[in-house]
This record gives sequence, C-alpha cells and structure tokens, in this order.
Amino acid sequence: MARCTVIGNWKMHGTQTQARDLARGVRRLVGNRFRAVEVILAPPFTAIEATRRALAGSRVRLAAQNLHWQPSGAFTGEVAAGMLRDAGCSHVIVGHSERRRLFGETSRDVGRKLAAALEASLEPILCVGETLDERRRGDTHRTLSAQLSGALKGVPKSAIESLTVAYEPVWAIGTGRHAAPAQVADAHGWLRRALARRFGAASAREIPILYGGSVNPDNAAELARVAEVDGVLVGGASLDHQSFAAIVKVFSTEIPTATFNIRTTDT
Ligand code: PGA
Repeated sequence: MARCTVIGNWKMHGTQTQARDLARGVRRLVGNRFRAVEVILAPPFTAIEATRRALAGSRVRLAAQNLHWQPSGAFTGEVAAGMLRDAGCSHVIVGHSERRRLFGETSRDVGRKLAAALEASLEPILCVGETLDERRRGDTHRTLSAQLSGALKGVPKSAIESLTVAYEPVWAIGTGRHAAPAQVADAHGWLRRALARRFGAASAREIPILYGGSVNPDNAAELARVAEVDGVLVGGASLDHQSFAAIVKVFSTEIPTATFNIRTTDT
C-alpha cells in the first residue's frame, strides 16, 4: 500500500518519442522499487499512448492534465473523461493554476470537471493555491476555501476515496522558489481541517494532500518531512527521469514529522 504519491506533470512538453524515452527512464529507475510511493506520469494528450506503451505492465500510472465535463459533443479541441479512461489514464489533473489563469477556468468549471472525472471512474487530482498578491493580502486561506468549496460542491462523501488534493501556490510554480516548509505546513493543515469539516475527520485523513511548486531533488527532503505532506506534484523536474526518480526515492524514505509555529502571511 503506497504511503505517498509523486506525480510528474509534463505540461506541454515532448513529442511521442521524447515521452516514450522519458517514461522508459522513469520505469527503469522506479518501476519495481520505492513501493511506498505511488508514481504517476501526466503527459500531454498526444503522448498518452506512447507513454502508456512504455509503462505497460509496470506499476507507474497514467494521468491526463485536463478534461472537459461533457461526455461527448460539439466541443472542438476538448477531450472527455471517458476518452481518457479509454486511452489508459487512471487519473486526471483538474484546476491547475495554469488552466485557471491562462485559460479562464472558474471554480465552477473545475467542479464540473471533477464531477465528470468521478463519474467516469477517473481519479481527480484537484489543484488549489493562492497568488502572491493573495498571500500578501493575508487571503491565502480565503482563496483555498473558495477553490475547495467551488470544486467539491455536490461531490458525495463516497467519491472521496479517489480524490487527491494538490496545494500549489501560484507564486512557487515554475519560479524555482518553493514554498517554505512552514508555509506548506500551514496550508496543508488548513486544507486537512477544511476537508474534515466537509467530509468528517476520518474520511479527510484518507485524502492525500500533495505539495506542488518548484519541487526538485534538492528540496524534496525538507518538503517530505513536513507533517500533512502526502507527496508532490512535480513540473519542471519531472522532465528529467533522473531528477524525477531522485524525488521518488526521497519520498520513499522520509517520514513527515516536522511541525512549525506558523505565520501565514510570510512569503
Ligand atoms: P514546477 O510545476 O514544478 O515546474 O514548479 C509544478 C506544477 O505546475 O504542478
């Protein structure tokens, strides 16, 4: 039984050949090792099949980076949950900040996507996180609250066993500047309590809460030691199989124990 989860989000990178090579590299380094860690790769749509083939028969699982909430129809350029299942995905990322910011996704859209994923038995990885302005204004918790309640509206308690939440502060994504352990502890603790209010404490404990934002092999250990961190969502560093495998290795050995005195507005 996996104790934590490490996901590689390849974003809009890679041809089919590059995806195949990267997936093979990950498979070679983590395929049969580090079993305490659930390993998931999220290639772009066009590389899902190449990645699936490269991972076939291994324990590494496949996620899509986005979906549409309708099962089919006249939605040019969109991909439905059932299509992703059919393509071999077990998971799908919803509400990534790049989708929210660059493509205008609202929390309502994110909620519809999450519901469509659950309906199709795809496990959603729900991303939430504040901008730097929101943090500086002291609105971090307010932002997380709005994003969480928008996305989880109408989600039945029975569905939460397939839910993963990723805390991804927008200011830490792709910037090379990860959130400090105390900030991560504060946000994850807050999310856990919010999930407990929504679903009950026992169920909330079962929901993995991942951290995302400039995770790399050098900072993985300090993040892995933070209480309530159940894994990481990795962007840039997942494009190199050795870096990604090094992060998986860290999470297979570090146990979260660190707690902090928290000042939420620090950046
Ligand atoms: P990053 O991206 O690791 O490149 O900061 C993380 C993410 O967007 O999930």
